[in-house]
Amino acid sequence: KALQKMRDDRPKSLAELNAVIAASEPLVLGAMLGATRAVLGEGPTDAEIVFVGEQPGDQEDREGRPFVGPAGQLLDRALAEAGLDRRSLYLTNAVKHFKFEMRGKRRIHQKPSLSEVKHYRWWLMAELEFLSPRLVVALGGTAALALSGRQVSVTKMRGRQEFPPFAGFLTVHPSYLLRLPDAEAKAGAYRAFVDDLRQVRELAG
Ligand code: URA
Repeated sequence: KALQKMRDDRPKSLAELNAVIAASEPLVLGAMLGATRAVLGEGPTDAEIVFVGEQPGDQEDREGRPFVGPAGQLLDRALAEAGLDRRSLYLTNAVKHFKFEMRGKRRIHQKPSLSEVKHYRWWLMAELEFLSPRLVVALGGTAALALSGRQVSVTKMRGRQEFPPFAGFLTVHPSYLLRLPDAEAKAGAYRAFVDDLRQVRELAG
């Protein structure tokens, strides 16, 4: 009976799943500070490629949309350079709530813990099952952890990956590029990121 109830309660569409996520209590620490809401995935539900980030940032939390802050703007530029149209992609995050720490008046991003990533993993996998994309792109280690259930080194594993049951690709997170202090290193890392996105386009094409 309990099993039957679990089956009956399971979201039957992406819209139902998103309603559950939106109504959920945030698990991440930032939630204790009260300003956080769930940022849901965005894009066409028949997208061939789904990009998975880490978690919404300050601006995403305010606007309620994924990848609209500085990392999102960098991603937009790189996507366009690689010949990918953001509007044809589905963008979502491993963790759906912004985790932060107050520093003065600023909300500073905090990396989600292993248990937080695991907590949100069920939602991510359910979301992907509804979307059933041809390729899932992990942006950074947290996304790869959420997709594979284990720690993944981006440096060692960058490139084609399986994220069962999906074909996948692992690359860096755009905020890693923003953080590189040296202009030359940054430019090189950005070119490598655009090259990865070109491969993504070819793999999904
Ligand atoms: N970084 C992410 O990982 N996701 C967002 O939505 C924005 C920034």
